[in-house]
Amino acid sequence: MKQERIILDVDTGSDDAVAIVCAMLEEEYDLLGITTVGGNCELKNTTDNTLRVVDACGGGVSVHMGSELPLASTLVPWGIQGMTLPHYEKNNVFGSFHPDRLPLPDPISKVQEPRAAVWLIETLLAQPDYSVTLIPVGPETNIALAIRADDRILKKIKRVVLMGGTHDVYYPTQAAEFNIWADPEAAEILLTSGLDITMVSLDATSDVLLTEEQSQMIRAIGTVPAVFVADMIDQRLKASGNNAGAALHDPLALCAAAHPEVLTDVWDTSCHIDLGRGYAYGETVLGRNYMQVKGEDGMLHDLPNNVHYARKADREFFFHWLYDILSSAANH
Ligand code: BDR
Ligand code: CA
Repeated sequence: MKQERIILDVDTGSDDAVAIVCAMLEEEYDLLGITTVGGNCELKNTTDNTLRVVDACGGGVSVHMGSELPLASTLVPWGIQGMTLPHYEKNNVFGSFHPDRLPLPDPISKVQEPRAAVWLIETLLAQPDYSVTLIPVGPETNIALAIRADDRILKKIKRVVLMGGTHDVYYPTQAAEFNIWADPEAAEILLTSGLDITMVSLDATSDVLLTEEQSQMIRAIGTVPAVFVADMIDQRLKASGNNAGAALHDPLALCAAAHPEVLTDVWDTSCHIDLGRGYAYGETVLGRNYMQVKGEDGMLHDLPNNVHYARKADREFFFHWLYDILSSAANH
């Protein structure tokens, strides 16, 4: 019985690809549609990759193309207009994690109209109040555009479970996690929306490493989605060079939305984004870092909590969940 209506927003991307598989195969989920955004690669590639994965899981999910560029930032990973981080070389470190074209057949499914922000508004307004879980696992550009264009959608959203932010583990800059860094202004719009937000941070996703042995177990399930997931794990093992295992960040958000117990250390805290355009641009500044504001009484007060910030996750729980949804799909 499908209980949870979800919308997935992706920048596919090898780990987004596994998140799509999870969204389509987890029986708890009623997937209303997928929106795409530029991020791990250019929008045309993140969208094409998304269609490939949807087809690999049997198709039948509508995919809506979203924003190519961030709202205001001029730093984009693939270097449009020559603007990018100095050390960020396409097809070097990043390209080995996220190929422009995932190793799946050309898509049969086609991208659907309207574009993402419009589709998000139309789709959400047609739902009962507080009924949809939004799961953004890329830069939050589409979500921010939709919120700004029609804030009546806020009432339709039950909660947001996003992959993004960091406290202790940094990539790609010394201050920021990728999804937030790739569109800091959009992330701040979401964080100040008043929505119930769980942040599945890079700290938490770095806990759930998958090993070569686990990849082989998944491959042995033998279905197209399972073999593909094993391919993605192997590719990330190779790209990271980490013998302890490969982090698959985005699927943890899918696991956490259905099984919150996978998150083992969750802080209720304030969280805002550094928008200063300096070295810390895109940093997730937590209340735990002593962020305070002066109140009308002239005293310093803590900022109100606006997120549940997940800092640790259960590695074994995550693997068994992933394995189970892939193997039960094989038996249906
Ligand atoms: C996030 O950045 C992207 O590269 C991944 O797809 C994930 O969403 C991890 O920081
Ligand atoms: Ca992603």
